[in-house]
Amino acid sequence: MDVIVVGSCNVDLVSYVPRLPTAGETIIGTKFSQGFGGKGANPAVMSARLGAKTALISMVGDDTYGKEYKLNLMKNDIDISHVGTTSKAATGVAPIFVNESVRSLFNMAPARAGLDQYFQYCDILVVNESEAEIITGIQVSRVQEAKVAAESILKKGCKVVVITLGENGAVVLSQDDKEAIHIPTPKVPAVDTTGAGDAFCGSLAVFLSTKPELGLQESVYRANRIAGITVQSPGTQTSYPHRKDLSPELFSEEKLLKDV
Ligand SMILES: Nc1ncnc2c1ncn2[C@@H]1O[C@H](COP(=O)(O)OP(=O)(O)OP(=O)(O)O)[C@@H](O)[C@H]1O
Ligand SMILES: *[C@@H]1O[C@H](CO)[C@@H](O)[C@H](O)[C@H]1NC(C)=O
Ligand SMILES: *[C@@H]1O[C@H](CO)[C@@H](O)[C@H](O)[C@H]1NC(C)=O
Repeated sequence: MDVIVVGSCNVDLVSYVPRLPTAGETIIGTKFSQGFGGKGANPAVMSARLGAKTALISMVGDDTYGKEYKLNLMKNDIDISHVGTTSKAATGVAPIFVNESVRSLFNMAPARAGLDQYFQYCDILVVNESEAEIITGIQVSRVQEAKVAAESILKKGCKVVVITLGENGAVVLSQDDKEAIHIPTPKVPAVDTTGAGDAFCGSLAVFLSTKPELGLQESVYRANRIAGITVQSPGTQTSYPHRKDLSPELFSEEKLLKDV
C-alpha cells in the first residue's frame, strides 16, 4: 500500500432548509440528498483517485448504509480487507442542514436579452441603467422609469432587483415590497466612475451577509456611499477603500438612511 487511512465512514444526509428547527418542531425543507463522507473515507477516496494504492481501516454497521458504503469504497479502488462490519453499532451518519438563506447576488454585466430563464436563480439581481434597458426594453434615464423597469424585471422571477443609477443612487424592489423604492446617495465630486458598479456589488454583499439586521434598503444605501467614495479618485481597484479608512458609522447599527 502507498497510503493507509484509519478513520470513519459516514453517510451524509443533507437537508436544505430555510432555518434550523427548534426542539420538537417539524419544518418543511425543499430538497434532500445523500452522499458518502467521513473523515477516514474522504482522504482515502482522494488518495485512490490520484492513483495511489490505498487501504482504509474502518468499521461500518451491519445495515444497508454499511453495505452500500463498502461497495462505494470498492468502486473507488480502495482496499477494504480491514473495513469491518459490526452488529454492535449502526453505520455513521452525518445529518447536515444547509442554510437556504445564504443568498446569491447576480450582477448581470454586461446584459443581453434572452437570458430570462436565469432570473429564477437570482436572489438579488443588480444591474445599471443601460443593462435594465436591455433586459426590459424600457428606456431608463429617470428614477420613475427605473421603478417601472424594476417591476418588469422582478416579474421575470428574481426575488430582489437593484438598479444602480450613478449619481442618483439606486432603485430597489423586492417581492415583499408594494412598490420600488428610490435610495438617493449624497452628491460627491466624481472624477472617474470606472468600477463603481463592482464596488457597489461587493459592498452590498458584505452588508447583506454580515449585517442582515440592516435590511435591504439600508444595505443599498451604505453600498451607494462606498461606491460614491470610489468615484472620487482615478482607477478601479486603486480607488477602493479599506474598512479602516471608512467612517465607522457605515458599519454601525444606527439607521443612516433617512426616510424614503
Ligand atoms: N457620480 C456619482 N456620484 C455618486 N455616486 C456615484 C456616482 N457614480 C456612481 N456612483 C455610485 O456607484 C454606483 C454604481 O454606479 P453606476 O450606476 O454608474 O454603475 P455602473 O454603470 O455599473 O458602473 P461602472 O460600469 O462604471 O462600474 C451607484 O449606485 C452609486 O452608488
Ligand atoms: C442562516 O443564514 C442567515 C443569513 O446569513 C443567518 O441570519 C441565520 O442565522 C442562519 N441560520 C442558521 C441556523 O445558521
Ligand atoms: C452599465 O454597465 C455596462 C457594462 O455592463 C456599461 O457598458 C455601461 O456603460 C453602463 N451604463 C451606465 C449608464 O453606466
